[in-house]
Amino acid sequence: MMENGLLGIQELAREDIETILETAIHMKEVAERDVKKVPTLRGRTIINLFFEPSTRTRTSFEIAGKRLSADVVNFTPSHSSLSKSESILDTAKTLDAMDPDAVVVRHGVAGVPKRIADELDAPVINAGDGAHEHPTQALLDMLTVLEEKDRLDGLTVTIIGDIAHSRVARSNIHGFLKMGAEVRVAAPPTMIPAAVETLGVKPFSSLREALDGADVVMALRIQRERLAGAYFPSVREYAATFGLDRAKLRFAKDDAIVMHPGPVNRGVELAHDLADHRPSVILDQVRNGVALRMAVLYLLAGRRHRRPADEGGNS
Ligand code: CP
Repeated sequence: MMENGLLGIQELAREDIETILETAIHMKEVAERDVKKVPTLRGRTIINLFFEPSTRTRTSFEIAGKRLSADVVNFTPSHSSLSKSESILDTAKTLDAMDPDAVVVRHGVAGVPKRIADELDAPVINAGDGAHEHPTQALLDMLTVLEEKDRLDGLTVTIIGDIAHSRVARSNIHGFLKMGAEVRVAAPPTMIPAAVETLGVKPFSSLREALDGADVVMALRIQRERLAGAYFPSVREYAATFGLDRAKLRFAKDDAIVMHPGPVNRGVELAHDLADHRPSVILDQVRNGVALRMAVLYLLAGRRHRRPADEGGNS
């Protein structure tokens, strides 16, 4: 599955996830060195192709590539020939002709990274596509939980928020289920997809019941600008019912951890104090994002077939 790219967690086997997580654990050691750089991807080129805004994902892919000594190119759509009506596919083919070793794609429409991958020789990594998947986010979340709990199998993971529109929720549901965890989702009924049980998760409209005995509590960003009034009556009511604070967290296990993919709406899905302090592990998630993306780049760009001219020995 990892041969030609990473488009979603759904198509990964448990063994693929284990390989990526084990590789990421090795990569973490690089961040502890005085010189945070290894020559592993020297001479390889990685293109970041982000059609949507990003702080964490784009920056960490860039840092990950640079720590592996790859040449990283950040393509900015607004300053490209896309503004002269060139299509996304023609843009992708043009970039592919420059022989990159991996292309990282974020787009607001589900399926665009797959469509680009179908046209490219280089492996494509999905950095988030619409409400479909955000595979590297789920992998860094699993890495963070593994560090905290020493296992994924048998844990209870409660995801709170806009499950219906969340690529983070979808990738984490696939990932944690494959790794043997129980996954619960909690939200107003309008934010839980119909027939969500067919994915293998348990839906709850009571946060208290969803949190009962949870090891991991993951709050999702509420798109307050778009959803208030359409999916829940008001931001204030959402915060009172589904916003996580220390009082509500008492229903989870005593050693439960709190996660959030970011960016956080403070005081809406997470209380200020909880966003900044244990048991929140939000900044650990961000930190692990670099090592996890180093692992994915290494596994994809690092073993790409090289042509005979590349074996010449020039460094
Ligand atoms: N978690 C996440 O994808 O954040 P960014 O949008 O900042 O990349």
